[in-house]
Amino acid sequence: EKGGYPHFMLKEIFEQPNCIRDCMRGRINVEGTNVVLSAIIDHKEKLLKAKRFIIVACGTSWHAGLIGKHLIESYCRIPVEVEYASEFRYRDPVIDENDVVIAISQSGETADTLAAIDLARRCGAFIYGICNSVGSSIPRSTHTGSYIHVGPEIGVASTKAFTGQVTVLAMLALTLAKNKQTISNNEFLKIVGELMSIPDKMEKAIQTNNQIASIAKVFTYAHNFIYLGRGYSYPVALEGALKLKEISYIHAEGYPAAEMKHGPIALIDEEMPVVVIATHNGMYDKILSNIQEIKARKGRVIAFVSEGDEVISKLADICIELPQTTECLDPLITTIPLQLLAYHIAVCKGKDVDQPRNLAKSVTVE
Ligand code: M6R
Repeated sequence: EKGGYPHFMLKEIFEQPNCIRDCMRGRINVEGTNVVLSAIIDHKEKLLKAKRFIIVACGTSWHAGLIGKHLIESYCRIPVEVEYASEFRYRDPVIDENDVVIAISQSGETADTLAAIDLARRCGAFIYGICNSVGSSIPRSTHTGSYIHVGPEIGVASTKAFTGQVTVLAMLALTLAKNKQTISNNEFLKIVGELMSIPDKMEKAIQTNNQIASIAKVFTYAHNFIYLGRGYSYPVALEGALKLKEISYIHAEGYPAAEMKHGPIALIDEEMPVVVIATHNGMYDKILSNIQEIKARKGRVIAFVSEGDEVISKLADICIELPQTTECLDPLITTIPLQLLAYHIAVCKGKDVDQPRNLAKSVTVE
């Protein structure tokens, strides 16, 4: 059932290009000129006049939510808040019938996310679910939603569900933006075209597997890791750090790179591995100077860059090249090598990657 792979997690990482093809099938036309999420068309009026979106989720799904915020605010010009479901549900939040709550959950059974939905519904909000497990509790308690269609995820560490969630959030933002007329036709076509090329680019990102497996051996000594990113890459840094923590039991922190100088840079010395997502996009120059700051303190930089990068490759201790895409879809590519890095470090350390200690696949109790 692992299809020849040693672990479900590796199988699920490698499956991602096909999962994303499945996720987009029937939603993007073959010409690559239109995106339709039926839930949005069915509830167009409600969604178009929403004053605010609130995304509720936990763990990896919450990280996908942060990317969703960036996408929806950029292209739909609607304010979006991203909340940990466990905090939202106990805070007596201000919420009413002008709000749309997007609940993101792979399993569709997470207790805190379900409770957050119940609360929001009682306050009159419209609830949109983004789930994987068909027929689970969350899709049954929402007004509408979109499945991510990535197939069953068995590994406790979430991988393909994350990229599926981000893909649905991108399609949601594009469909809404088109209907709200908050995106130009050129920009819309550019992103849809890029979205269609994502599965092939993911295949290329997966080809870094051997390179990452050899790096992993070098870093089993570490007790701490820092992950840095900016803009769309900041949630990817959080996600990379969470993957490493949960399966290798190495402490890791994800940070927005510019926050380093407000405290965490004190942790940097020649022992500290610093993973930086530094692909070629609007934040490139900023992240480059953040890398210089780390190198000035002798940190060991592992940089994930775009193909052909000649600047960061000279600065970083280790540099891994990835295919380039448009900025808002970059997380779909950059997440993959971070999943692989966590996987190989955990395997080198002899840990049980599919069933890490203390963790359950669905957190059905609060
Ligand atoms: O099923 P859900 O998406 O609601 O689960 C949320 C979290 O429990 C989950 O993402 C968890 O953080 C994963 N183990 C992360 O890999």
